[in-house]
Amino acid sequence: MCGIIGYVGPREAEPILVEGLRRLEYRGYDSAGVATLTGKKMHLRKKAGRVADLSKFLKDSPAPGTVGISHTRWATHGAATDTNAHPHIGGPNTVAVVHNGVIENYSTLKKQLIDQGVEFHSQTDTEVISHLIAQKLEETDDLVESVRQVLTMLKGTYGLAVVSPKNPEMIVGARLGSPLVIGVGENENFLASDPTALIGCTQRVVYLKDHQLCVITDTDFHIYDEDHEKVSVAVQNIDWDTGDASKGDYEHHMLKEIFEQPEALENALRGRLVDADNTALFGGLNLTNRQLRRAERLILTACGTSYHAGLVGEYLFEEYARMPVEVEYASEFRYRNPPIDQHTICIAITQSGETADTLAALRESKRKGHPTLAICNVVGSTIAREADGGVYLHAGPEVGVASTKAFTSQVTTLAMLALFFGRLRHLSSLQGAKMIEDLRALPDAVRQALKCNDEVKRIAEKYHGVSNMLFMGRQYMYPVALEGALKLKEISYIHAEGYPAAEMKHGPIALVDEETPSIFLTPRGSVFDKVMSNLEEVKARRGPIIAIASEGDARAADYVASKADEVIFVPDVPEYLQPVITSIPLQLLAYHVALLRGCDVDKPRNLAKSVTVE
Ligand code: AGP
Repeated sequence: MCGIIGYVGPREAEPILVEGLRRLEYRGYDSAGVATLTGKKMHLRKKAGRVADLSKFLKDSPAPGTVGISHTRWATHGAATDTNAHPHIGGPNTVAVVHNGVIENYSTLKKQLIDQGVEFHSQTDTEVISHLIAQKLEETDDLVESVRQVLTMLKGTYGLAVVSPKNPEMIVGARLGSPLVIGVGENENFLASDPTALIGCTQRVVYLKDHQLCVITDTDFHIYDEDHEKVSVAVQNIDWDTGDASKGDYEHHMLKEIFEQPEALENALRGRLVDADNTALFGGLNLTNRQLRRAERLILTACGTSYHAGLVGEYLFEEYARMPVEVEYASEFRYRNPPIDQHTICIAITQSGETADTLAALRESKRKGHPTLAICNVVGSTIAREADGGVYLHAGPEVGVASTKAFTSQVTTLAMLALFFGRLRHLSSLQGAKMIEDLRALPDAVRQALKCNDEVKRIAEKYHGVSNMLFMGRQYMYPVALEGALKLKEISYIHAEGYPAAEMKHGPIALVDEETPSIFLTPRGSVFDKVMSNLEEVKARRGPIIAIASEGDARAADYVASKADEVIFVPDVPEYLQPVITSIPLQLLAYHVALLRGCDVDKPRNLAKSVTVE
């Protein structure tokens, strides 16, 4: 899941490419590079490390030219070195290629090329593409035709951009599995992995579909389908202003996005709660009430944090819509072949809308004829476009790799969907009215919850040196325990596990010792006593305990406070909305612990924001 951006026009390409790479850096930050053309001359500059390292390098050795392609990398094949950085060159400087994806048959192709005497410089799969195109170019002297022919030899996924001094007026792009979008300008055009790279350049875009190839010049662009037939496409407008994706006054995107949650939830709720019918309303489901009423089962499929939101969704739909739900890891679901009856709706949950496994799981369900919906944050993303219908979160850009506001927006949207499906079934009008009241009060409850920041920071100072942490919850709190553990793992690199609290005594309790803090989610609710027994079991083994409890809950104030080493109080909300409130202190804990350990909070090692490879 790398980031690609290309430019052709009257302006110097380098500054446009570097700014675009900065905006795409959340997709991968192992190395970066550019290749520009001045007529028949190619200028290649690439560096291991961040875009900032490349930018420093370019200060001493600029890359001139008004045509260029560039790349920021998340390594799939070969370590993060200067040599493995993209662009990769084919022939004697005749072709430069940047690629996002995985070429599965690269080793076979590489062997054939080596047998033909081709010399390789990197360990990447991508370099194979450069050499193949260079060979075809020798034969055809036509860059577009050469790329087209080489695509037929590749197995795997790609979003790629190619330039050559032989055709210095153009950039050729192609997409299969990895996102690619054309940015349409005035006498200039762009190519990018996603529209965020084009903020400040143009808001007019064309999304490439799988198996499409495009040719962009300064004055025009053409798109061809698999049979190399020209296809006409609609140019779309993106309503995204630059303010959204900046850090504002915050030190990190993650902290900004944590504190943006009240507004993000207000955006998710806006115009979707209908007092007249005491239900929720969604304009983009594109399914008839008949299809929705006849649905007998839901499959929620996703990855990572979105999967955890799906687990909360399971509790919500079972309780408020009385519907059986299965929550599936998309990466497993796409290759499993479960018998699914026809009255099943498949819902893909995804912040980016580009996660390869979730896209494949959605396509698998469509192939089997199930209506598909997407709960997604990125407008115009592949999953949003391919699902039959869906719901946008309207949470605004989420740049920090660790997902925060998308999670609470996903849970809130799932609660509204449970209300919607419930009101089509068994949920009474009064119950609907109560849920609407609860949901409307949620953004302010989150504002209140954010006030625990200083308290959480103090607790982080106490525990940021540990090597392991356990997170425990029951019922609606179980997915939150998983999410809390994931947040801590992914940005502080502390080994953390989330468990259904009662599961501890079946093994994991052996991990408990005085060096391993346990986070217990003990808000007011139906299983409070049960989870407190589990807390006592850990207490008995002298494990340090941090509890998350409900404000104004006398029993918590007494009992929990008497047992736990630290208690973080959060606003008291109905049990089914507690996942939104209790995840706030867990997000802040991960943030402060990571900061105290000197970790890069927004760009944690080995990760990327949008996982577009399998
Ligand atoms: C969460 O903090 C991670 N960034 C990751 O687990 C993420 O949730 C997962 O990759 C799914 O991404 P998506 O929601 O964009 O599909």
